[in-house]
Amino acid sequence: MPPLILVNQLRYRYDDGTVALNGVDFRLEAGETVALLGENGSGKTTFALHLNGLLTGDGSVEVCGIAVNARNAAIVRRKIGLVFQDSESQLFMPTVLEDVAFGPLNQGLSPSKAAEVALTALEQVGMADVAGKAPYHLSAGQKKRVAIAGILATNPEILVLDEPTTFLDPPGQRALAGLLAGLPQAKILITHDIPFARATCTRAVFFRRGMIQQEGSVEEVTARQGWEFRPRRAE
Ligand SMILES: Nc1ncnc2c1ncn2[C@@H]1O[C@H](COP(=O)(O)OP(=O)(O)O)[C@@H](O)[C@H]1O
Ligand SMILES: [Mg+2]
Repeated sequence: MPPLILVNQLRYRYDDGTVALNGVDFRLEAGETVALLGENGSGKTTFALHLNGLLTGDGSVEVCGIAVNARNAAIVRRKIGLVFQDSESQLFMPTVLEDVAFGPLNQGLSPSKAAEVALTALEQVGMADVAGKAPYHLSAGQKKRVAIAGILATNPEILVLDEPTTFLDPPGQRALAGLLAGLPQAKILITHDIPFARATCTRAVFFRRGMIQQEGSVEEVTARQGWEFRPRRAE
């Protein structure tokens, strides 16, 4: 069995000359949930966008043994579900239900079956009660949950969530951690939320300046990076 994701010496430079990825090696095996940690601007989102072919750089990216490139991006996107950091850009249908049903419909499900699957996914993220609303009327946290439902509804083999707990209230964060723990898929979670990473991830990698600088358990990586948040009392 090939790894679910295999990335070799990935490099990417944006049009304005910014070197966002500078030789990233990475692999993801079945059953893993990996935290991508690292400073703002260290390349985590850019890396995620390479996993389903939204960006293509130098080096290689394979998903389920398939090389990711412009030609087979459509096949890869059935295997990997990416929830964007900015979920605003992911929601575009008139109602929440239609939005979440869009993926399953696209996969060939009948309209009634797609609506059923969409409603189940909305229930999983606690958003079934807003199914009839317009996505643009939702709060940021609600949009995030709906975007996650949209990915769950397509049942991909790998889930990639870019800052999924941003905007979520504490009960929503807890519920998401519980939901993810119960899903069988391998996952990549980009997050600054260390308790969330600790609760959900089997392994962590730490990005710095477009490279993976360190790997280990969430505890090891955050301790070594001085990445724990401990409020200091004024002397
Ligand atoms: N569209 C873009 N054009 C130019 N530079 C970009 C663009 N998107 C991101 N960058 C830059 O690439 C680097 C990596 O960004 P990003 O992948 O978003 O980091 P992270 O997700 O770790 O915060 C940063 O220096 C950022 O400013
Ligand atoms: Mg980012």
